[in-house]
Amino acid sequence: MSTFKNNDFQQIIEGRHAVHDFDPSVKISRVELTQMITESVSAPSAINVQPWRIVIIDSPEAKAKIKPLMAANAHQNETASALVLFFADLKASENAQVVFDQAVKAGKMPQEVSDHLVGIVKKVYGAMPTPALVTTFTLDVALPAMQFMLVARAHGFETGPMTGYDHDKIATALDLDATRYVPVIMVAVGKAAQPSAGSVRLPAQQILSFR
Ligand SMILES: Cc1cc2nc3c(=O)[nH]c(=O)nc-3n(C[C@H](O)[C@H](O)[C@H](O)COP(=O)(O)O)c2cc1C
Repeated sequence: MSTFKNNDFQQIIEGRHAVHDFDPSVKISRVELTQMITESVSAPSAINVQPWRIVIIDSPEAKAKIKPLMAANAHQNETASALVLFFADLKASENAQVVFDQAVKAGKMPQEVSDHLVGIVKKVYGAMPTPALVTTFTLDVALPAMQFMLVARAHGFETGPMTGYDHDKIATALDLDATRYVPVIMVAVGKAAQPSAGSVRLPAQQILSFR
């Protein structure tokens, strides 16, 4: 059953703009936030390793804790219903066995393919230096984050993506191992107190070429 209030794809993508000022009286239930994350993580990832770890900051205690780390984005922390923080999990290759076992059990993948892919994941990611792992997983993690911005609109909410916060301290402030979890992007979500002024894009002719 669809949980979308708005299923007009054109309206969802064309109407999305970064909101900076939210209505602080609006709360989104944890059930709905969880549903929105479930809908967002259908995004793809390389070898389906799903290297995302998501922390939702919606309690006054957690918001107070990250307040000193929010730089110029303190107002979103104060007013948004929640801040959704997408981390890259540098140990995500450990997910592979679980994911592929699940795929085999669901009849979506033969056992030999699963064994082969688990081997590849261990080989590729096991040997990858940390900076390359961060880059690779950042790409994967950005996809559900973008999807979340659209899913939120389908649920009747607006979002504001942010990287303006203290990247070095945010994982530790949220009781995560900072050597394992690397912050990628934070997305404020709620009802807009003020609509965004909108934004412009370079025309396709300027940024596109065909070969
Ligand atoms: C990776 C990323 C980081 C951003 N960081 C911030 C931020 O720290 N603070 C902020 O107010 N907006 C931030 N933005 C919002 C952008 O400024 C905004 O998306 C852009 O100007 C385009 O406007 P639009 O989203 O309304 O179309 C960020 C957007 C992205 C994609």
